[in-house]
Amino acid sequence: MEKGISRADFLRRAGGALAATLPLSLIEISCGGGGGRAKASNEKFTFAFISDPHLTHIKGTQFVRNFDSGLNKAIETVNLLFPKPDFVVFGGDLAQLGKKEELDHGMQMLSRVNAPIKYVIGEHDYYLDLGKYWEEKISKLYYSFDHKGVHFVVLNSILTDEKWIAKWPSAEERMNQMARLDNPEGSPFMVGDAQLAWLKKDLEAVDSKTPLIVLSHSPLYKIFKPWNFWTDDAEKVQAELKRFNTVTVFHGHVHQVLYNQIDNISFYALMSTGWPWPYPESYKQDTHYIPKMTVFMNRQDPFHERDGTGWAFVNFENGREEMTYKLWENKDRVVAYDDSAGHPVDREYQSPEKRTLSQTHY
Ligand SMILES: [Fe+2]
Ligand SMILES: [Fe+2]
Repeated sequence: MEKGISRADFLRRAGGALAATLPLSLIEISCGGGGGRAKASNEKFTFAFISDPHLTHIKGTQFVRNFDSGLNKAIETVNLLFPKPDFVVFGGDLAQLGKKEELDHGMQMLSRVNAPIKYVIGEHDYYLDLGKYWEEKISKLYYSFDHKGVHFVVLNSILTDEKWIAKWPSAEERMNQMARLDNPEGSPFMVGDAQLAWLKKDLEAVDSKTPLIVLSHSPLYKIFKPWNFWTDDAEKVQAELKRFNTVTVFHGHVHQVLYNQIDNISFYALMSTGWPWPYPESYKQDTHYIPKMTVFMNRQDPFHERDGTGWAFVNFENGREEMTYKLWENKDRVVAYDDSAGHPVDREYQSPEKRTLSQTHY
């Protein structure tokens, strides 16, 4: 590494050079600063984040090529990263319809990743066999781990009501229903009481000054119920996180740039390697939806095929995150926790005169 260049600068420059083509998120975390907010560990580290490839089986050995190529690009890039990331987080929705063919295909691709992978399950991976194959072949559905002074919690946030699960005549029909976006037949996601009890116990041993990062598939707050951009018992999860000084939630599922602040918790969505979702009406700060978004967001263009897919770069140097969204065929967007505002701020577009209007023509 060049003398006089910090590791963060080096990584940022390296990321800038790669930004045009890469569908992954590179996250750098440093716990040495933070004015006492974060527990000092002085060990900086990085991890990459790949989410929502939705690999789709056609027949035989055929899969939808565009989705394969998004995941492949992410994997190739992770393997070229320097410094090498300590691990890779996979954010869920590896499969489109939960088929073994899709999960096997994805695992074969992900086996080329030259780093350990921490897996988060998505609803597209779960609702065919209720997570059995995933748990048997890929990962536990929820767990925690510590890494260089940061406590990580991985939640399975896409569970739902047992009665809804039982009402479908076949596993395929259940999966097809849950795979729809705009779906009056759907059922809200939840973490569930058993997992909440586990979370409570897991966090008992963690000091409130320890930086806490929660990884989930659905957002752990309520955005738009008709599309299941929603976790029904989100408030209960938030209550368990309340006593921590620094809490950051990274989630997949929504396939778009999205950030928010609720009490002490900052939320950031990761983009998909497959496609972007448009924005529901709630983002217009419509009071009909509770709670409304606390932070106004400037949007990318969901009608551009590749806008909204890409990767991000998060730097935790000051004990809070600074996240650079690297959008394909669009300008980078830096969204960072701002102490004076008390929430994430888009460094370029947060001020009212620079905002673009919410898009309603979805
Ligand atoms: Fe997804
Ligand atoms: Fe999802």
